[in-house]
Amino acid sequence: EENDPNKKVLLMGKSGAGKTSMRSIIFANFMPKDTMRLGFTNSINQSNIRFLGTLSLALWDCGGQDHFMQHYFESQRDTLFRNVQVLIYVFDVHSEDQRDMNYYRSCVDAIQDHSPTAHIFVLIHKMDLIPVEKRDEAFNKKEREVVKNSAGLNVICFKTSIWDETLYLAWSRIVHYLIPNSDVLTQSLNRFCSACEADEVVLFEKSTFLVISNFSSKQHKDVHRFEKISNIVKQFKLSCSKAAARFKSMTVMNTNFCAFVDEFTSSTYIMLISSDSTILPALTQMNIDLAKKHFE
Ligand code: GTP
Repeated sequence: EENDPNKKVLLMGKSGAGKTSMRSIIFANFMPKDTMRLGFTNSINQSNIRFLGTLSLALWDCGGQDHFMQHYFESQRDTLFRNVQVLIYVFDVHSEDQRDMNYYRSCVDAIQDHSPTAHIFVLIHKMDLIPVEKRDEAFNKKEREVVKNSAGLNVICFKTSIWDETLYLAWSRIVHYLIPNSDVLTQSLNRFCSACEADEVVLFEKSTFLVISNFSSKQHKDVHRFEKISNIVKQFKLSCSKAAARFKSMTVMNTNFCAFVDEFTSSTYIMLISSDSTILPALTQMNIDLAKKHFE
């Protein structure tokens, strides 16, 4: 099952939690503000997403209104929860509705019965609605409650918001579980990084700009820097396409470092960061071009 290229991903949670919003931003080129005009999802919206050339994600966005939820746990239970690789459950951090935790519990039970090897991720979403200084506390409280209701299964919680890079962080980590041979990829990136004498190399998936893999030879304070870049470059790429221009590459140079973002394989972009000013940009470009074939 781990090697099956067709991965079934369930996206669940109460109505209005933000499921269709995040799906549209990550996979359908929506800007965050575009989500304000989304209507509720009628039953289940199934989309097939090609990812990294060979992976195919069957993303089931399950509308969260009560009457749909009832069907999921009754008449549709066997089909819906069968062959699931990943369950993503979205909580609106702002909502105190007790039904939500009951629904989560029912999902966990159904997954345990029908797809016991599935990975479970919980997104504590709309964190932007909580004042910055109270976010950790709100997240920890919700996380404790989630763990208590997870029947002892291994669950990973993320705090997310469509208004910042946390959405990219969570989805990059989730997608990571679906990519076969991701360790091999990281090793190749590691070798490439040293060959170019770069500080860091990051691989982004082409259409979503999710971080696929990265390697750093130095320690950095900002651990979320790549997801910030995902967010920024993706928005820039979208603005380019609105102006009928195609984003291909970007070079940022100053006295401390040089960053290249460039098309890499047919399904990825690469970013290479170098703080050694004696390395000529043209040489880095050549190294990227030479490595393309190896990674394709
Ligand atoms: P159903 O389809 O009924 O199950 O709802 P859903 O979970 O798909 O919710 P949807 O994505 O339609 O989002 C509902 C509303 O929440 C929209 O108006 C979004 O703009 C808003 N929203 C989504 N994510 C966030 C977020 O991170 N922060 C804030 N403040 N609002 C958000």
